[in-house]
Amino acid sequence: MDRSRTQSRRPLIKCTVSVTAIWRAYRAILGNSLSRLNLRYQTTVSVPHNIDAAFFPKPTHSPYQPETPSKMGVPAYQPETPSKKGVPLSRAPIEKETSVEKETLDAELSNNPPYMLGRDYQASARLALLHCLNHASNGFLLHPSIPLANRENLRVADVGCGTGLWLASLAREMPASARLDGFDISDQQFPRENIYGDNVSLSTLDIFKPLPRHVLAKYDVVHIRYFMGIAVNDSVQIAMDNLNAMLKPGGYLQWDEEDSLSKMPVFASKTDAAQAQLRWYIRNRLWPNTEWINNIPAHFQQSGLHVIHHSSHPPLPLYRKPWTEDFLLAYAEVANSLENENERLWFQDMHARTVRDAANGWNLDWELIICVGRKAVVAA
Ligand SMILES: C[S@@+](CC[C@H](N)C(=O)[O-])C[C@H]1O[C@@H](n2cnc3c(N)ncnc32)[C@H](O)[C@@H]1O
Repeated sequence: MDRSRTQSRRPLIKCTVSVTAIWRAYRAILGNSLSRLNLRYQTTVSVPHNIDAAFFPKPTHSPYQPETPSKMGVPAYQPETPSKKGVPLSRAPIEKETSVEKETLDAELSNNPPYMLGRDYQASARLALLHCLNHASNGFLLHPSIPLANRENLRVADVGCGTGLWLASLAREMPASARLDGFDISDQQFPRENIYGDNVSLSTLDIFKPLPRHVLAKYDVVHIRYFMGIAVNDSVQIAMDNLNAMLKPGGYLQWDEEDSLSKMPVFASKTDAAQAQLRWYIRNRLWPNTEWINNIPAHFQQSGLHVIHHSSHPPLPLYRKPWTEDFLLAYAEVANSLENENERLWFQDMHARTVRDAANGWNLDWELIICVGRKAVVAA
C-alpha cells in the first residue's frame, strides 16, 4: 500500500468529518425553524387559498390522545416509521400525478393517475365486503331496466372486475350457456383456481388503451363498477367509448359508481374535525378532476348510447356503518401510496382520528349512482 497517499488523505477525512458534524449540529439547532418554513414540503400542486403548505406538519410523537380513553383498550395512535414496504411498485411519485404542470405520462392513458388502492389479501377482503354491501343494498346485480328475458348464450363482460366476485355472483343467475368474462388491468386479485365455474373467465385488459379485436362488439351486457379514483375528467370518455365498442348492437352498458367526493368539503382549515380535513384532502388533492362522476349520462350520450336509466341514492341506512368502515380501509391503503413523507404522516394521523370518530358514530355520506345505456340496434 502507498503509505504516503494514505497519510495525505487523513486531513481530508478529518475535514469531511468536521464539516458533517457542523452540518448535523446546524440542522439540530435549526431543524424546527426549517420545518416551520416548510422547506421540506415539495409537492407541486396548487393549494386552495385557505390552506397553505403548513397544512401537513410532520406529527410529533403521539399526535393524538383520545379525550376519553377507549374501553376497548385500543392503543393511542403512534405514527408509523416511514417505510417503503407498503408502497405499491406501480405507484408513481406524487409530484408526477398531482403536479399542475404534469406531462402526460403516456398519451394513451390521457393523464390517468396510477391506481392508489392495494391489491393484497386485505384489499381483496375489503373489495369482497364492498361487493356484498352493494349487492345487499341495491338488491340486484344487473339493474332491472336491462331486459333479460332470454339468458341463453348471453355474453356479459365486467371491466375492472377486481376479485371477479360481481361476475361470479351473476353467473349463479345465468344458465350454463351464458359466458361471463372479467377484465382487469391487473390479475393480482383474481382467484388462482377456477372456483367461479367454467363459464366465467378472467383476463387482463387496460380499458384506457386500444382494445384487442376479440372483445369488440362481442357482449350483450358490459358492466363497470367503482372507477372513482381511476378515471379522471380527461380520460373517462376513452373508457366509455371502449366499453361501448365492446357491446353488440342493441347491447347494454351498466355503470355503477359511488359519489362520496361531491359531498366532501372544498375548503378546510386546520381547526376543522379530522374527518373534514381528511375528506377535503381526498376531494381536492387525492382525486381532483372527478366531476365526471356527476355527468355519467352525458358521457354515455357522447359515446352514442341511449340512456335508459340513471339514479342516485344513498345506501340503505343499516349498511352505512360497515360501508363507512370499508371506505376507511380503502383510505388506509391510499395512505400507503403517498410518497411524500410529511403528507403520508399527516394523512395517517387524520385517518386515525377519523377512525376514532367512526367508532363513536360518525359515518361517511355518499350516493350510489347507477347509469344504464343501450347501444343502437342499427349503427347510426
Ligand atoms: C375499486 S376496484 C373495483 C373492483 C370491482 N369492479 C368491484 O366492484 O368489486 C377498481 C378495479 O379497477 C381496476 N383497474 C384500474 N385501472 C384499470 C384499467 N385501466 N383497466 C381496467 N381495470 C382497471 C383495478 O385493478 C381494480 O381491480
